[in-house]
Amino acid sequence: MRFHTRKWVKPEDLNPNKTLFGGKLLAWIDEEAALYSIIQLENSHVVTKFMSEINFMASAKQGDIVEIGLDVVKFGTTSLVLHCEVRNKMTHETIITVDKITMVNLDNEGNPKAHGKTKIEYVHERLSKK
Ligand SMILES: CC(C)(COP(=O)(O)OP(=O)(O)OC[C@H]1O[C@@H](n2cnc3c(N)ncnc32)[C@H](O)[C@@H]1OP(=O)(O)O)[C@@H](O)C(=O)NCCC(=O)NCCS
Repeated sequence: MRFHTRKWVKPEDLNPNKTLFGGKLLAWIDEEAALYSIIQLENSHVVTKFMSEINFMASAKQGDIVEIGLDVVKFGTTSLVLHCEVRNKMTHETIITVDKITMVNLDNEGNPKAHGKTKIEYVHERLSKK
């Protein structure tokens, strides 16, 4: 799993219990999954279709740094299925796992469109093709 993004837990990210608000964390994950899919599928029209079981395993507090990791589970025809793990950068404790996140590639009318991708592509591979 590659951990792409780090986030700093700030006062506005906390719940009344003074730990990281779950909804905030899910918004970060959703954005990360969207950015990852847009880059992999080379299309900015990508939406979240489905999120499977979400397991909040540990908490984070103000000042903690969390890192968001994604793995590709499957390249479908119009979809990209991802697995997500968020962990505490300092302790490496897992904060949350999302088993499957299904992102769907869309055309300009908002209909599912085949993306034609079958494997993860890295920037250096794309650059060397040009
Ligand atoms: C995304 C959307 C266009 C898909 O429409 P749809 O009629 O379900 O399309 P399809 O049945 O052709 O499915 C498209 C892909 O999603 C997958 N999919 C559909 N329903 C799914 C579900 N419940 N769970 C997992 N994957 C699902 C299909 O397997 C297909 O993948 P594949 O082509 O790789 O096999 C439509 O549901 C939509 O616009 N949803 C709102 C999305 C949105 O706005 N998200 C932002 C958050 S609100």
